Amino acid sequence: MSSIDAALLDRLRHAAAEAALHAYAPYSKFFVGAALLFDDGSIVTGCNVENVSYGLTSCAERNALFRAISEQGARRKIVAFAVANRSGAACPPCGACRQVISEFVTPDAVVTFPGDHGPVVRPFAEIFPCTFTLAPDAE
Ligand code: THU
Repeated sequence: MSSIDAALLDRLRHAAAEAALHAYAPYSKFFVGAALLFDDGSIVTGCNVENVSYGLTSCAERNALFRAISEQGARRKIVAFAVANRSGAACPPCGACRQVISEFVTPDAVVTFPGDHGPVVRPFAEIFPCTFTLAPDAE
């Protein structure tokens, strides 16, 4: 499926679980962490941060991505990422995070997340097909 080996995926899952320990989720009590592996070998993590207004909540995956870009710019590409949560519930990345992350993945990037029967590993292109693209010159 990809060149990412099982040990590296395990490391990513572990990093995502560690990040979930920092999550601020007093409203949903669903504490999420994400870990992004970039093509330079670096790993950047994030957690969800909720708000009393609910709608201003920011997901773990996007927080990890925005942190990565804020720290190092947008040159690096994501080759794999993991999502985890403290309760171990099934937790694929939400649609909004898939859309945002889609601009920064390599064509063969993979994602791993908790499923109903243990960890799931999928090509990103499979969980987010038909990506929206903008053709500004088209009339
Ligand atoms: N959440 C994430 O952090 N990532 C996702 O992909 C889905 C949902 C968070 C948002 C909210 O704080 C909590 O999980 C419950 O929806």
